[in-house]
Amino acid sequence: MSGGACIYDVDDISPVVLDIGSYSVRAGYAGCEVPSFDIPSHVGVREVIQSTTDNTVDSLNDTKKAQKEYFIDTTKLIVPRQETDVVSFLKDGMIEDWDIFEEMMDYVTNKCLMCDPKEHPLLFSEPPWNTREKREKLMELAFEKYEFPAVYLMKNAVLTLFASGRSSGLVLDCGATHTSAVPVHDGYVISSNVVTQPIGGDTIVDQCRLCLEKQGIELVPNYKIKEKQEVGENEKPVWTLKPNLPTVRKSFDDYFVKRIVEDFAHSTLQLCDTPIDVDFVDKLPASSYGFPCGFRKDFHSERAKIPESLFDLKYLHSGLDVPAPSATLMNVSDIAAAACGMCENEIRSQMYSNVYVSGGTSLIMGFPERLNHDLALRCPPVVKLRVAWAPTVAERRYGAWIGGSIVACQPSFFQYWVSKAEYKEIGRSAAEKRCT
Ligand SMILES: Nc1ncnc2c1ncn2[C@@H]1O[C@H](COP(=O)(O)OP(=O)(O)OP(=O)(O)O)[C@@H](O)[C@H]1O
Ligand SMILES: [Mg+2]
Repeated sequence: MSGGACIYDVDDISPVVLDIGSYSVRAGYAGCEVPSFDIPSHVGVREVIQSTTDNTVDSLNDTKKAQKEYFIDTTKLIVPRQETDVVSFLKDGMIEDWDIFEEMMDYVTNKCLMCDPKEHPLLFSEPPWNTREKREKLMELAFEKYEFPAVYLMKNAVLTLFASGRSSGLVLDCGATHTSAVPVHDGYVISSNVVTQPIGGDTIVDQCRLCLEKQGIELVPNYKIKEKQEVGENEKPVWTLKPNLPTVRKSFDDYFVKRIVEDFAHSTLQLCDTPIDVDFVDKLPASSYGFPCGFRKDFHSERAKIPESLFDLKYLHSGLDVPAPSATLMNVSDIAAAACGMCENEIRSQMYSNVYVSGGTSLIMGFPERLNHDLALRCPPVVKLRVAWAPTVAERRYGAWIGGSIVACQPSFFQYWVSKAEYKEIGRSAAEKRCT
């Protein structure tokens, strides 16, 4: 953070904190312990063709104008609609589709927080690899369109560490689309040593789906089911289709199949705290899972073999919709070790001694313990390895938001906000100059 001249008087006004992830958008007022809203980052988009008379074209013929309708948040998203795609506005953790992002911002400010943006400072979390162009665009949008009086962009890893009361350490964040290891020293990200790889919760979903499909288990999303009967392992599922369902797009169906598989993963998977062995797999108690169509089954070795792929890539399988992993893909402990390894000697020891685990996928039972085991094999012998993690689900998933909520309320943070006056003076480059 670089100090500036701006002192924004926000005595009685709660800053808005926004943490954008590929799985969900977390929004709320600073000063709370958890975000008040957790909105899926996937949005329904329907193109509506409207006939308009456009006077600006040469002939006064009717022309066709494409408009888009957006369906944001679970209650709107789950309604099956014709010609509606379910898409994400993020790519690699960064904002890619700005039209959808603006719709999301409108929804968050008007419908969720019901705030007048002109009256609240805004703290955004961002991934450490966010590009200059995207940061500047975000700042411009916040000031020009929404007219927030003060804005700050802060790295999500730094916020996650702050939430745990630390200002230095290696943040190992295992989210939906990627896992990253981010070295933070005295509140600053060491950008050149950040390591990120496309492995995470979505990888686990793909692996679970392959495994379930191989066992011939039908994945029927809730929106299709009118009635069902609970049936056991060797019986055929008994369920009836809801009448009058519209024909939905593949992306809609895929999204809701993915939600079933996610729920299956959250309920059944468990990592072994050492590389998988036959003994552990044999002793693992069965976990029974009931699918939305009423089919119930006990799961055994797959409970451990599937998440093992996060730590040992030879357990990754490819299939029809699941491409083979690239030759350069790294596993979770290699990601952490690579980031530590790039740090200079003294900082490297500090990083190994302050590994902090975060992200939703780290909630797989045994994940932090396994990381601890595998990192111990890579950590230099003279260095004391310490791996810590937040004990609660909320802290693990919302760490960056909670950190933002703490930081934005601190009186000492007032000097860091970029004010509207300052933005007017230096323009969009304020994002790079002031938010480090
Ligand atoms: N209890 C759980 N057990 C296992 N995995 C979980 C659990 N809860 C959430 N997840 C997984 O965590 C992922 C979401 O984590 P998180 O909220 O940290 O992601 P994000 O920050 O939105 O995404 P990203 O970091 O990829 O941009 C999803 O893949 C979800 O399936
Ligand atoms: Mg994340």
